[in-house]
Amino acid sequence: MDVFDAIQTMLAVRAYADKPVAPDAVRRIVEAAWLTGSSMNQQPWRFIVVQERETLRQLGALAKSGPYIAKAALAVVVVIEESPYAVSDASRAIQSMMLAAWDEGIGSNWVGFHGLDAVKPLLGIPDELDVFAIIPFGYPAQPVGKGYKQRKPLDQIAHRERFDQPYPG
Ligand SMILES: Cc1cc2nc3c(=O)[nH]c(=O)nc-3n(C[C@H](O)[C@H](O)[C@H](O)COP(=O)(O)O)c2cc1C
Repeated sequence: MDVFDAIQTMLAVRAYADKPVAPDAVRRIVEAAWLTGSSMNQQPWRFIVVQERETLRQLGALAKSGPYIAKAALAVVVVIEESPYAVSDASRAIQSMMLAAWDEGIGSNWVGFHGLDAVKPLLGIPDELDVFAIIPFGYPAQPVGKGYKQRKPLDQIAHRERFDQPYPG
């Protein structure tokens, strides 16, 4: 899939088919995170791949805004070190994973934004690290609309040369 096509068509997928994701595709998702650039190349992150159904269920119960994690084929728990850049770095890695998955026909969504401390004992995550987000992945349960995005009009958020001139104009 062309990169722009992927960006244009990818939507949040919160309902997953009961179909496993092949190990090669899982590996590509993890490699997409691994290969992402970070500030000063510090890579202040860890990615925990969860595929055991009982652990996915427990993650779904702990993440109030993502109960559907319970039904995902897998989830990647994104853990960050203390660094002023960790949020930006991890966010880039998350987008890389989501786009790499989308290219394989696999949907995903972003769940949480810090505040997931209860996940630490479940996955043996050291106290000094922060559970930043959980990304569930799976084949979409329903066909996903191609291309339509509910977004503000382009000329309300983009500008040409100066703030008072809308882009494209
Ligand atoms: C930082 C961040 C946190 C998010 N947290 C959640 C969440 O906790 N639960 C959820 O269902 N979706 C979450 N989302 C997904 C957004 O709701 C989604 O990206 C947005 O509604 C656009 O969806 P669309 O691309 O399908 O139009 C989050 C997205 C971001 C970028």
